[in-house]
Amino acid sequence: MADDASRDGTRYGNPDIHELLESIYGDPGPAFADALDTLERTGMPKIQVSPTDGRILKLLMHLASAKKVVEFGTLSGYSALWLLAGMGPEGRLWTLELEQAHAAAAGGVFQRAGVADQVTQLTGDGREFLDSLAEQGPFDAVFVDADKEGYETYARWALDNLRPGGLVLADNAYLFGLLADDDQEHAAARASVIETHRLLAEHCIAACIPTPDGLAVGVRT
Ligand SMILES: C[S@@+](CC[C@H](N)C(=O)[O-])C[C@H]1O[C@@H](n2cnc3c(N)ncnc32)[C@H](O)[C@@H]1O
Repeated sequence: MADDASRDGTRYGNPDIHELLESIYGDPGPAFADALDTLERTGMPKIQVSPTDGRILKLLMHLASAKKVVEFGTLSGYSALWLLAGMGPEGRLWTLELEQAHAAAAGGVFQRAGVADQVTQLTGDGREFLDSLAEQGPFDAVFVDADKEGYETYARWALDNLRPGGLVLADNAYLFGLLADDDQEHAAARASVIETHRLLAEHCIAACIPTPDGLAVGVRT
C-alpha cells in the first residue's frame, strides 16, 4: 500500500523513526563506533553512509554471496565495515581513497577491528588504479561513494569488471537532492550521476532504492 506522498518520495521517514529502528535492529558493535569516533577525532567530514544505508550494504553483500568487493571512497572505513560484515571472514575488500589522512585513519580503524588482513587500501585518485585493479577481478560488487564527477567512470569500470550477477551500487544517487535541478555549479556531477543511472538501466536489472539520498543498485546481467 502507498499513497501519493509516499509514492512521490516526500514521506514518511523522520529522525524518530530512524532512531526507533536503530534501537530495534541493534548496535553493530564497537568497530563501527570506532569508525565514527575516528571521524570526529580527526576532523574528517561526517559524510559517511547512515546506519540504515550500512545495513542495506551488508544485506546486499550477503544476498550476492559477495567475497570480492571494490569500494570507491573509504573516508574512515565506516561503510567498508558494513561491506565486510556482509561478506564474512572470507571477504576481501579493495577500498580507494584520495586523501592520505583519510586513508591513514581508516587503516587504524581496520587494524583495531581486526579486519586489516581482509582489506587492501589504495590511496590516490580512484581513476589511477582502475587498470591495475582490473587484474584482480572479476568482482562480486562495486560500491561507488567517492567524487560524484567520477561516478560515470567508476560505474563503467564496474560493469566491465563484475561477474555476471555482480552488483553495482552508487550512493548519493539523488545527488543531495539536486539530481533533477539545473544549476550550473553541479552540472558536471549531475551529468555523471545521471549517466550512471542510464548505464545501470541499460546493462543491469536495476532500481534506485529511496534511501535518504538514493542508493542505485544494479545486478549485472
Ligand atoms: C562520501 S565519502 C565516503 C564515505 C564512506 N564510503 C563511508 O560511508 O564511510 C567520499 C570519500 O571519497 C574520497 N574521494 C574524493 N574524490 C576521490 C577520488 N577521486 N578518488 C578516490 N577517493 C575520492 C573523499 O576524500 C572521501 O573520503
